[in-house]
Parts: sequence; structure tokens; C-alpha cells
Amino acid sequence: MASTSRIIASSILTIALTIGLAVFSLAPPSPATAQDVSDPRQEIKLDPAERAFVLAEMRGFLQSVEGVIGALAADRVADAQPSAAKSGMRVMHSVPPTLPTKLPKEFMMMGRATHQAFDALAEEAASMGDKTAVLKQLETILNTCNTCHSSYRLSGR
Ligand code: HEC
Repeated sequence: MASTSRIIASSILTIALTIGLAVFSLAPPSPATAQDVSDPRQEIKLDPAERAFVLAEMRGFLQSVEGVIGALAADRVADAQPSAAKSGMRVMHSVPPTLPTKLPKEFMMMGRATHQAFDALAEEAASMGDKTAVLKQLETILNTCNTCHSSYRLSGR
């Protein structure tokens, strides 16, 4: 009795393994192929230093977002000014000279628009200090972050 159920169990296992292997052999041949299919973002090829620069700039963006939200949440709108200004146009002065030639025009435009929008937010926070207006500006900025992120990825580690 026990041995019969062992035989049945091992037959089921054999069948399951066979199906498993059959399914596996139908899988895409290489991870690279799978990535191309599943990632529709346009690839931008950079060298490691250029890529590191862009990613550092990105982390600066996220820090600015944190600073602005922190100031608004604490009802100290004017405190958003320095955090936002850190991601303003002045960041673009330190761009590696080779970088602009490698970035698509739309990418450059969205990047520039984001820096300008942070400057405008800094100005609004320091002058009128209208919380709703600042939040609205932040929403527009985040919309550009998301638009760019869904369009491009960087390669060159
Ligand atoms: C002009 C295009 C563009 C804009 C605008 C943009 N990003 Fe990015 N961001 C990218 C790309 C491209 C990557 C790399 C994605 C990849 O290779 O998978 C990236 C990566 C990042 C990363 C990861 C950094 C790391 O160290 O890996 C963060 C965080 C980030 N972005 C935050 C933001 C925030 C916040 C904003 C808006 C305030 C923003 N980005 C606006 C293009 C953009």
C-alpha cells in the first residue's frame, strides 16, 4: 500500500518535472532579449563618469523634493527655498562638457525645465509663500520626473 502510493507519487513527480523542463525550454533564450522586450525605455549610452554625474544630479532632485515637502508639512513654506534652489539652474554649470552631446534633445529640455521649475518654486516659497501654489509647482515638477523616467534609461557602468 505504502509502496503503491510511493510509485504514484514518483510518477507524478516525473510528469511534473517533464512539463517543467518543457516549459523552461520555451522560455526566451537570453536575459538580454527579455530585457529588450520588457523595457521600452530608450537607452542613452554614457561613459561611467557621465552616468555617475547624471545619477548624482537625480539623487539631488529627490533630496530637494524631500526638503520642499518637509517645509510644507511643517507649515514653514519659506524653508522650502534653500532645498529647491539646490536643484536650480546653477547645477548645470558643473555638467561634464561631453554630456550634452550625448543626451537626446527632449532629455535636455526636460532636464532644463526641471532645474528652472525648482528655481521658480524657490522664488515662490521665499516671496509669496503660498503653500497651495508651491504644492502645485511640485506636482508639475514630479510630472516631468515621471515623464522622463518612463522614456529613458542610462547604460555605461
Ligand atoms: C530629463 C530626464 C529626467 C528627469 C527630468 C528626471 N530624471 Fe531621474 N532619472 C533619469 C534617468 C534616465 C535615470 C536612470 C534610470 C535608469 O537608467 O534606469 C534617473 C534616475 C533617477 C534616480 C535614481 C538615482 C540613482 O542613484 O540610481 C532618482 C532617485 C531620480 N532619477 C529622481 C528624479 C527626480 C526626483 C526627478 C524630478 C524632480 C527626476 N529624477 C527627474 C532621468 C530623469
